[in-house]
Amino acid sequence: MNKTIIANWKLNLDHLEAIQLFQKLNYSLDNDIDKKIKIVVAPSFTSLRSIQTIIEADKLKLYLASQDVSEFVEGAYTGEVSVTQLEKLKISFCIVGHSERRQHFNETDESINLKVHNLINKKIVPVICFGESIEQRKSENYLDFLIEQVEKSIKGLRKDKVDEIIFAYEPVWAIGTGETPSLQDIVDVISNIKEFLSSKPFFDEENTKFIYGGRVTPDNSKEILNTKIVNGALVGGASLDVDKFIKIIESIE
Ligand code: PGA
Repeated sequence: MNKTIIANWKLNLDHLEAIQLFQKLNYSLDNDIDKKIKIVVAPSFTSLRSIQTIIEADKLKLYLASQDVSEFVEGAYTGEVSVTQLEKLKISFCIVGHSERRQHFNETDESINLKVHNLINKKIVPVICFGESIEQRKSENYLDFLIEQVEKSIKGLRKDKVDEIIFAYEPVWAIGTGETPSLQDIVDVISNIKEFLSSKPFFDEENTKFIYGGRVTPDNSKEILNTKIVNGALVGGASLDVDKFIKIIESIE
């Protein structure tokens, strides 16, 4: 089955530790892993170059993602990392609008939209995160909130530019907690977002993928990942443990 599994290592591991974890993952991966499964690793900026060198030298079938990118392309923006810099590193994917960035770094929908445009222009696949807080979930119109979040992130996207785009449904109340939505909840949200997007000019069944993130573990991955509408997972905590991460990948039938 065509699935994309992204390991979000967040703010963990220095570059030496990241290389170690990456090598362990690479050695532990069964060569028979279905070629249709894309395995993507998202380390900190400081580790991207080291891991990219290994992927290139050993011609590995693993992909790199950045955890974020600047909304600016170049100039006097101290501390930022641009799409051009990511492109040079052959980064294939970039997480955008993760709830931790929205929450702790005041990331806005407008800035997320700029990032998405910049990434698409450089043919880096944006992994656009969206999700509701527990308070929003309890209100009746949380689906409207999610649709609005998604709508703002894709404003102005044109069909001829979009090769691939991934939407990651990440309910904020499930990230790093013991809670997970039911499979039905996940399917309902993705179906609604998919229906909303289906009228957008860039959308087609091939180029637009939907993944789930929020406490994905080997205990729930089988159910989630073998659901047709779910095209993969964004895995945080469990991706730092190679055994658990491999079990998640292996649960794809
Ligand atoms: P988690 O994180 O798997 O630790 O809940 C997921 C994410 O934040 O992408």
